[in-house]
Amino acid sequence: MTEYVKQDYWDEVARHLPAREIGGDLVAGDDTPFYRIKRAAFLEKLLAPALADATTILEVGSGPGGNVGWLTRRGKKVTGADISPEMLAQARANVEAEFVQTDGSTLPFDDRSFDAVFAATVLQHNQPADAEALLREMARVAATSVHLFEDTSVLPVRDRPSHWLRRPSWYAQVLEANGFVLTKRERLRQTAQEAMAVLVRTASPRTRHEGARTTERHRKIEAALLPATRAIDAVVPPAVGLTRMSFSRRG
Ligand SMILES: C[S@@+](CC[C@H](N)C(=O)[O-])C[C@H]1O[C@@H](n2cnc3c(N)ncnc32)[C@H](O)[C@@H]1O
Repeated sequence: MTEYVKQDYWDEVARHLPAREIGGDLVAGDDTPFYRIKRAAFLEKLLAPALADATTILEVGSGPGGNVGWLTRRGKKVTGADISPEMLAQARANVEAEFVQTDGSTLPFDDRSFDAVFAATVLQHNQPADAEALLREMARVAATSVHLFEDTSVLPVRDRPSHWLRRPSWYAQVLEANGFVLTKRERLRQTAQEAMAVLVRTASPRTRHEGARTTERHRKIEAALLPATRAIDAVVPPAVGLTRMSFSRRG
C-alpha cells in the first residue's frame, strides 16, 4: 500500500475540486450521479435532523465548506476546522464563516465551546490513534452532542490506503470512554449502490486522484446501473455505507 500522508493527500484532493462539474454546494466527494444522491440523503436525512436543536456548531474536517455553507444558510452559527490549507483556502473563498487549521490532535477551543460538534467522512480517513485523539478533542469541546457521519461496515476493513471502514461500535466505544452515550444510529440504505460505485471506480483510470473530475463514461455507467441498485437497496438491509452516530453528554 502506498503511504498515506493526510495533509498532502487532502491538499491534492482540494487542488482537483475547481475543475469538477458538481458546482454550487461544494463538497469533497466525487462528482458522480451516485455521489449526488448520497450527498442529498446525507444533508436531508442525516445532518439536518441531527443538528435541529443546535445553534453553535463545529464541523471538524470541513473540507471546501459545503456543509458549513449549507448549515449557515439555515441560520446556524458554524465554525469549520481542517488539516488542509488548500481546503481551508477554498472554504474561506466560498463561505462566510470562521475556519481554523488543525490536525485534530488538539482543537483550538475551550472545553464545551459548541452546542454540537460533528464530522462527516473524516474519521474514516484517520488511522486508529489519530481518530481516537480527534474523538477525544471533539468530546472535550462539545457542550451537548457529538455527531459522526462516517462510512461504516459490519466488518472492519481498510479498503484503500486513505480509508478505514470501521464498525459503529468502534466509534461508540471511544466516545463512551469520553463521557458520551450513543443515542441514535442510522445507516443509509445504499449498500448495492456503494458496491456498484466501487466497481465502476475500480474499472476507471488508475491515475485519477480522489476528488478529480470523473470521465463522462464513468458517470454514464453509474447512471445506467443506479435504478437496479436502488431497487435492491429498497429491500436489502444495509451492511455498509454512510452512518449517522449521534451521542449526548452523559448526565
Ligand atoms: C472526505 S473530506 C470531507 C469534507 C466535508 N466534511 C464534507 O462532507 O464534504 C475529509 C476532510 O477531512 C479533513 N481531515 C482529515 N483528517 C483530519 C484531521 N485529523 N484533522 C482535521 N481535518 C482532517 C481533510 O483535509 C478533508 O478536508
